[in-house]
Amino acid sequence: MADRTPLVIDTDPGIDDALAILLALASPEVDLRLVTTVHGNVDLAQTTENALRVLHLAGRSDVPVAAGARDSLVHPQPERAGHVHGASGLGGVELPPSPVPADPRPAVLALAEVLTASPVPVTVAAIGPWTNIALLLAAHPEAAPRIGRLVLMGGSAGRGGNVTAAAEFNAWSDPEAAHAVLTSTVPTTLVGLDVTLPTVLDEDGVARIAAAGRVGRTAAAILRQYLDHARSAHGTTGVVVHDALALTEAVVPGTLGTVRRDVVVDTTPGPGRGQTIVDRRAVSGAPTAVDVAETVDSPAAVEFLVARLEALARAVG
Ligand code: BDR
Ligand code: CA
Repeated sequence: MADRTPLVIDTDPGIDDALAILLALASPEVDLRLVTTVHGNVDLAQTTENALRVLHLAGRSDVPVAAGARDSLVHPQPERAGHVHGASGLGGVELPPSPVPADPRPAVLALAEVLTASPVPVTVAAIGPWTNIALLLAAHPEAAPRIGRLVLMGGSAGRGGNVTAAAEFNAWSDPEAAHAVLTSTVPTTLVGLDVTLPTVLDEDGVARIAAAGRVGRTAAAILRQYLDHARSAHGTTGVVVHDALALTEAVVPGTLGTVRRDVVVDTTPGPGRGQTIVDRRAVSGAPTAVDVAETVDSPAAVEFLVARLEALARAVG
């Protein structure tokens, strides 16, 4: 496809992050130029290693991986999500190591260089804590206008939190960064729990991915940890693929129904810390307003993901 949109993924793999990376590689609408990594589901060294290995799994070690922030901006955040994603972040599956090392550039520099070098606007999908994005906006304001769309997975408008009663994991992991990013003027779409929680990949979908070949079998094995966690923690038989839904919106803009709202983040130390406070009283015209995803056709989104992963697995062999 001649007019593929350049894409950068900022990520903390992470099971659903791994699926999101594979979905990007499976999607002819976008050209994945760079993956940057951040602290989050597991620590930075592991998220970086996992990103390299996921790209290698798909035969795409040509995509550079640059490591970013190892902790949040202001208050250290040592808590990880190994109980959800497995201690290594990929559900206990040991992927073969990549033949290439991480890019020597710090993530923020790599991001700035990719953005400023691109003749056309770049889509940035940030599916971990948003520390790298906040640093980019602060350190390289000249790069910000090159971001055509910033698609964030995180936050919640009306579903409460998933890591505390109030806060979603990515926003909670670095509330100060989340606040800076969500109040910037970069065109931003927020894909939060309101649309991700109803979007569940069930056992049948995982079985279809597994049947599609080596990459599919491996992706399904990685998902097994997620399925087991969902069953024991929530009594459900499917998994919420948060980050893959955000990537779907990045790949096919308009997949989700959005409304432009003002959003701020609670950065106080109390029980609300990390909550995204979405003003749902009115549509906003402010330059800092955010397109908040409020509606989703979940069965269609899951079918899109499964079909794309099947196609990738068949193509890679
Ligand atoms: C988010 O938190 C992480 O555990 C997932 O990878 C996703 O990005 C969901 O709250
Ligand atoms: Ca993530």
